[in-house]
Amino acid sequence: MVPTLTDTHAHVNVHQFVADRSAVIQRAFDGGVGRCICPGIDVATSEVAIEIAAQYPYQIFAATGVHPHHTTGFDGTTLAMIRALALDPGVVAIGEIGIDFYRNLATEADQRHAFAAQVALARELAKPIIVHNREAHHAIMDELRPYGQVQGVWHCFIGDRAMAEDGLSLGMYLSFAGPVTYPANKTLMEVAAWAPLDRILVETDSPYLPPEGKRRTRNEPANVAMVAAKIAELRGITLEEIIAATSANATALFNLPYES
Ligand code: NI
Repeated sequence: MVPTLTDTHAHVNVHQFVADRSAVIQRAFDGGVGRCICPGIDVATSEVAIEIAAQYPYQIFAATGVHPHHTTGFDGTTLAMIRALALDPGVVAIGEIGIDFYRNLATEADQRHAFAAQVALARELAKPIIVHNREAHHAIMDELRPYGQVQGVWHCFIGDRAMAEDGLSLGMYLSFAGPVTYPANKTLMEVAAWAPLDRILVETDSPYLPPEGKRRTRNEPANVAMVAAKIAELRGITLEEIIAATSANATALFNLPYES
């Protein structure tokens, strides 16, 4: 079997893709993307992620969770809805969850409460977590460190080597997105060149953060090839090696099934 790319973070479930979602997904498949993980950002988009996963078995997988921007009023009812959705067979992770002290669209208390509750849910269900961090590295580490080892991914990793080492020390994966292709991000490029090959993933974070050469456009999963190519260049290995490694890592982290 020829390894194909796995876009581990593509929000094809959000409104920006309503008009042409099937064409966007087909372009990804045509461009060598074999699989995508589609994370929810709230209950409604988690439901849509599950619907899309059902349409593309073995190709698109859902994650269910409430993003830090949407955690205002997160309570036991919200958690119960996420738990019920997470039991769907197309769901491979709890996400997108995390803490964001840059935009602060919800209070710190709400963000921390929702993150802690969803991390605990993921442990209960034995599913990995997809973590969003924006200027909240220490708050997230404070939450995760007591667990010792964490099955999960630091999504759209942006940081230095010390931050990467913190995540790796928990057993987490680092997922690189469009920002690793931006010429100004030298520190991030160094991390992508250095990080252990068996701990890295690639993603687009579509529709956000398009890679260099596609900036100011709507990002889409086909562009994950540009992220993979940049990492191959930074590490001095072939694109095929990056594709094989990152897809194998995605299979391991998310326990992805193959069609038999
Ligand atoms: Ni996201």
